[in-house]
Amino acid sequence: MTYRSNDESLERSTDKWMIWGLVFMIVLIVGFVAYLWFEPAGRADALEAHEAGLTELGTELYELNCASCHGADGEGGIGPALNSQEFLTAADDAQIKALISVGIPGSLMSPYLLDFGGPLTAEEVDGLATYLRSWEEEAPENPEWRACCP
Ligand code: HEC
Repeated sequence: MTYRSNDESLERSTDKWMIWGLVFMIVLIVGFVAYLWFEPAGRADALEAHEAGLTELGTELYELNCASCHGADGEGGIGPALNSQEFLTAADDAQIKALISVGIPGSLMSPYLLDFGGPLTAEEVDGLATYLRSWEEEAPENPEWRACCP
């Protein structure tokens, strides 16, 4: 009799733990699904904010460092018109960053990344590239975009 009642209380206690285990598992699953649901939106927002920040940084840096040769709105001058479909379609982000970082040896386009003797950090170069990219949607066709330079 004593044994039997012990057995019952053991079973009750086991049931209790199993129920808690189940509740805990459901909480985890619901939490995980909610995370999967909300996380991409959170990331998209963060990315958008990050890009807006970079564009702002790039806008300032462009005026200070690039406008004198490439024009206030990228329309070209001493340097090629960067605000042109031809350039922005041809060059991807990595190429634009490389061009700004390393420059074009033997031309007036000097290197801008600190590593290559320029004045800017990698983040600042990112900002410039993001800013140039932001022109793409409305950039005019300009077959003469490189007319500046032989
Ligand atoms: C002193 C003038 C000058 C300044 C300042 C200058 N550039 Fe240039 N840039 C040039 C010239 C000239 C070329 C073309 C070189 C060549 O191809 O011979 C060029 C080329 C480029 C190209 C490559 C275009 C292509 O032909 O594909 C990019 C991108 C560029 N510049 C971005 C920038 C950015 C961004 C800045 C500011 C950080 C900047 N440049 C500052 C003169 C300048």
